[in-house]
Amino acid sequence: MKRDGGRRVPGGNTRGRGSGGMKGNSMVVVEPHRHEGVFIAKGKEDALVTKNMVPGESVYNEKRIDVQNEDGTMVEYRVWNPFCCKLAAATLGGLDEIWIKPGARVLYLGAASGTTVSYVSDIVGPTGVVYALEFSHRSGRDLVNMAKKRTNVIPLIQDPRHPAKY
Ligand SMILES: C[S@@+](CC[C@H](N)C(=O)[O-])C[C@H]1O[C@@H](n2cnc3c(N)ncnc32)[C@H](O)[C@@H]1O
Repeated sequence: MKRDGGRRVPGGNTRGRGSGGMKGNSMVVVEPHRHEGVFIAKGKEDALVTKNMVPGESVYNEKRIDVQNEDGTMVEYRVWNPFCCKLAAATLGGLDEIWIKPGARVLYLGAASGTTVSYVSDIVGPTGVVYALEFSHRSGRDLVNMAKKRTNVIPLIQDPRHPAKY
């Protein structure tokens, strides 16, 4: 039995090649983290996860976990590796407040290709929005492509020193 949002649910498996710490198709329980919109997947090894805004899609081949709700619907989570992302490390490390939660409007400066932005997108969810600003056109191309599938991400390829332009 697995749990989503604190509830026990039957079934779940892991996919992908990401190094987030979930191994094989081990039994997984998903519980809410202290910070709303973030979850902990408890299996053989615990992993920080977010609810995937775009089920079936990974952003950089990260590991995904499917969990079945009590009503039979499936929820997909993405493993958020604290060794690859400072925001994940800070969240796991006990930061009191991350100011990013479902429904929030976030201005993300230095979005690069959008790896961390994609997790912020998961956390704020469909009622939130992420304005993702990146200076580099090369990284910006990947960011724009990522945002095509994530309707709550608005990519801005601009210099942050000139806010009047965006
Ligand atoms: C280390 S990367 C950010 C990685 C990203 N936060 C993540 O976790 O996925 C820093 C990014 O900031 C961008 N950057 C640096 N100076 C900038 C500036 N003045 N305006 C906008 N972006 C800038 C760089 O182009 C680079 O893509």
